[in-house]
Amino acid sequence: MPRIAVIAGDGIGPDVTREAVKVLRCVTRGSGTELDLVEWPHGADHYLATGTTITDAEVTELSDQYDAILLGALGDPRVIRNEHARDILLGLRFRLDLFINLRPVRLLDPRLTPLKDKAESDVDFIIFRENTEGVYVGMGGTFKQGTPDEVAVQEDVNTRKGVERIIRAAFEHARVAGLERVAMADKANAMEHAGGLWRRVFREVAAEFPEIESEALYVDMLAMDLIRRPERYRVIVTGNLFGDILSDLGSQLAGGLGLAPSANIHPGRTSLFEPVHGSAPDLVGTGQANPLAAILTSALMLRHLGYAGEAERIEAAVRSAVQAGATTPDLGGSLSTAEAGDEICRYLEQMKN
Ligand SMILES: NC(=O)c1ccc[n+]([C@@H]2O[C@H](COP(=O)([O-])OP(=O)(O)OC[C@H]3O[C@@H](n4cnc5c(N)ncnc54)[C@H](O)[C@@H]3O)[C@@H](O)[C@H]2O)c1
Repeated sequence: MPRIAVIAGDGIGPDVTREAVKVLRCVTRGSGTELDLVEWPHGADHYLATGTTITDAEVTELSDQYDAILLGALGDPRVIRNEHARDILLGLRFRLDLFINLRPVRLLDPRLTPLKDKAESDVDFIIFRENTEGVYVGMGGTFKQGTPDEVAVQEDVNTRKGVERIIRAAFEHARVAGLERVAMADKANAMEHAGGLWRRVFREVAAEFPEIESEALYVDMLAMDLIRRPERYRVIVTGNLFGDILSDLGSQLAGGLGLAPSANIHPGRTSLFEPVHGSAPDLVGTGQANPLAAILTSALMLRHLGYAGEAERIEAAVRSAVQAGATTPDLGGSLSTAEAGDEICRYLEQMKN
């Protein structure tokens, strides 16, 4: 039985995670599938009460004794610079070596995209963002800080191993899913050293997948093209910074943060699943947080754990609810967070009959 650590976290994290857990129980009820869901208290309250974010022993426990982590959101205005969130989130990403940040972008209803004349099938791509390197490793420094001569250096770290494994993961996904093309985004014209490595490795790995078309693009070109003709794209692979920006762009093409799931994966190891949105302090206590991103995230987790049927049923239920307008106010509906979760369970029950 898969063992899953549930870290509801801060702000709206507990609200949306409660619904995701509710849906996990609905989809597995009577199906023979069992999940061991274990609640973990980590977040701002825990940090403020105990002074610890997450200990080395706890990270080891997650790594050795759990199959997945389902996380709500982290971020609390009471914690200076959100150091607990950085420690837990970035700590888990780096220490569990979760090198794939997976961001599916799928339009569930044409009314939800700001693009003109686009159908569901036109906005349906997945971004493989490198998650452990790039400019986010924190290498660099400042010199003469606070003076007119101040210098700030932020290094962009790209290793052969890091670039190769994320590119290979994207091609492997395309092969398994039967998708015809993988696009890679870099900025090789202005950042020749990193771009040179990415392009060389991309060509080499692409040669191992002769049935899949490959295309290397400058990231600014791709950003324009995703707005102009998103239907050209099915799989995109890119570095940490560009992936961060492209996936936020992508989330808006498919209805916004309320519907955007993500996964942080190292195949074969404990992986972390979280909605893209944050803790939304403005929504705390309103009962209006949209739980669908967290629910779609739980579907990603189930698929990763080998329960593709359950994942598909959750995704179909979410699509039905969205198309029927049975949503929270951010998507134009009038349901509360809990009612939106109930609605997904209702569709899941209908599918069983
Ligand atoms: N992975 C994470 O845990 C994560 C990601 C982003 C931000 N954060 C943290 O969250 C806090 C708030 O950050 P922010 O305001 O920049 O981003 P946010 O994603 O929390 O909110 C941005 C906007 O989107 C709306 N929104 C977000 N989630 C929603 C949902 N489920 N349903 C309906 N509307 C939703 C919010 O109301 C807000 O207007 C900060 O402390 C930040 O550091 C955490």
